Amino acid sequence: MDAVSALVTSFMGFPRLPLMAAPTRLQRLEALGEELGVDLYLKRDDEADAWGNGGKVRKLELELGAMTSRGCDTLISAGSWGSNQCRALAMYAAQLKLRAVLHLYGEGEPREVNGNALTAALFGAELHFHPASHFVDVEAAMRRSAEAERRAGRRPHLVAPGMTDGAANLGYVRMAYELSEQSAFAPLDDVVLAHATGGAQAGLMLGRRLTGSPWRVIGVSTMHPAATARAACEARAQTLTALTGSSIDEPFWVHDGALAGGYGEFDMDSLRLIGRLAKDHGVLFDPVYTLKAYVGLAQLCASGAVPKGSKVALLHSGGASALGGLLQSAAVDYRGALVRELVRGEGP
Ligand SMILES: Cc1ncc(COP(=O)(O)O)c(C=O)c1O
Repeated sequence: MDAVSALVTSFMGFPRLPLMAAPTRLQRLEALGEELGVDLYLKRDDEADAWGNGGKVRKLELELGAMTSRGCDTLISAGSWGSNQCRALAMYAAQLKLRAVLHLYGEGEPREVNGNALTAALFGAELHFHPASHFVDVEAAMRRSAEAERRAGRRPHLVAPGMTDGAANLGYVRMAYELSEQSAFAPLDDVVLAHATGGAQAGLMLGRRLTGSPWRVIGVSTMHPAATARAACEARAQTLTALTGSSIDEPFWVHDGALAGGYGEFDMDSLRLIGRLAKDHGVLFDPVYTLKAYVGLAQLCASGAVPKGSKVALLHSGGASALGGLLQSAAVDYRGALVRELVRGEGP
């Protein structure tokens, strides 16, 4: 643990453990931009680390910084079966010789474990399954685990589902500084990103204010209707204000036109679109977050809310690592049909 503590630096006075390759690229996607009628750039947070943990690493740097500075040795968290956050926590816990206890909820049976949950297990995290449970139910389970860890003489650190409490969202203030430098000579008009807990959007909005950047921040909801999603941003913003003393005095813009069936829901058309974007433009989006952010952006371009010719950054927050698991999970049975569409070999 001491070797880890020695690596901690600070961001805005908060301990931060540097883990990611920053700044991530701002890559121009000329042909896809032409399709949408805008000058399009992809903010490549999917390249934040070599393991594909994406934007979660931004939050993790601050979360692990806080944990390390408090001398804790055990991470306790929760997420859905496909949680990118739980996968990232397990991987970095193993690398930093910390213990990880993870509560996973949602449909499915432990014997069907796959994708991100399987990766977390391979990295040695202790997994607890809560079939047919949700976000709120698992908080009590996390607290019980913390008690058990304390009784065993360990020092637990609780990480909120979505890694969206405390200083973690300051990771997205850092992203605002990157974007502001990367677009210093030709400012962006809009930054578009996927919204789940609203932490990333709140951090980015605070960063926009602190850097004096001109761009608008548009969240595309993956989980809630716009009003609930905005309230989530406001709650995250209050925490950031309490920590930093800086407030966000503007309304949050959340677009909820790309929710489709709700959080984690997607259909054959989503998979076809992922395939077309991969084939035509060489980008791989996951169906839960970045594809929805892209679909939301396309809707806003079509309606004129994002005017023609705007310079737009779409955040690729990662998440494609979940694709394999999502396709194989019992709840999703498009895989066979998709494979038949894609593989046009001579069948028996
Ligand atoms: C890949 C990916 N993108 C975007 C988000 C949304 O970020 P936030 O919860 O801060 O709104 C998440 C959160 O789980 C995520 O895993």
